[in-house]
Amino acid sequence: MVQANQWNAGLYDAKMNFVSEYGKGLVDWLQPAPGESILDLGCGTGDLCAELSLAGAYVTGIDFSATMIEAARKKYPPFAFEVADAHTYRTDVSYNAVFSNAALHWMKRPAEVVETVWLALAPGGRFVAEFGGHGNCGQITKALRTALARRGISADERSPWYFPSIGEYTTLLEKQGFHVVFASHFDRPTVMADGDLGLSHWLNSFCSPFFAGLSSDDIQQVCREVTDILRPALFQEGHWVLDYKRIRVLAHKKSEKDTLQGGAVK
Ligand code: BEZ
Repeated sequence: MVQANQWNAGLYDAKMNFVSEYGKGLVDWLQPAPGESILDLGCGTGDLCAELSLAGAYVTGIDFSATMIEAARKKYPPFAFEVADAHTYRTDVSYNAVFSNAALHWMKRPAEVVETVWLALAPGGRFVAEFGGHGNCGQITKALRTALARRGISADERSPWYFPSIGEYTTLLEKQGFHVVFASHFDRPTVMADGDLGLSHWLNSFCSPFFAGLSSDDIQQVCREVTDILRPALFQEGHWVLDYKRIRVLAHKKSEKDTLQGGAVK
């Protein structure tokens, strides 16, 4: 059984802030408008809720991690934040848009999440998301697999991540009834802060489910082995450059009028 990641909000904000920096481009995609209601699925410590609200939108952020939501509330007291599981979350609000950056790949029952998004949206509402696609962090996963196999552990059985192909994910959206306006699967080499320490920040922030049951000495040793395997390929000019592959989607919930007319949603 996959364990929840042990999130450290302080480390996340201090060393992993590239996550929300890259996400600002996704806000441009959504084009939030004054007065709109927007649900941010997997909001982390709330930085992109703040970006979305700059346009005058009313934003609610949900995240499975109580630690992240506690940090978000401290940073952004005016916004509404809730600890919630996006697989099962239900709301009485009909949102104009659902937004999600770098969160959906942590949710391993994607059809349930897609249903949550559908039910949260008003007819005509839009869904904009970015997350890891097939092959994301492939070299890192392979190195983890090697180091853990030496200890009799299957990395694949423990993986907390869902990295679909573009076809798989857009099919899920269409089955739910969404009109997929745009979908893209692209490489996004991701530069880590802090020179040589960059990869260990990443492993400490994101990989705790792989390390369940290991002593802290064993975890350090696994991280050293992973680092040694990856260094020739991913340490470049003093920085770790990680092999991210993203999926971006824009999908619309057809309004009843569009459905009856069988027409495309603008
Ligand atoms: C990502 O944002 O692609 C990602 C984050 C954590 C683990 C794996 C992938």
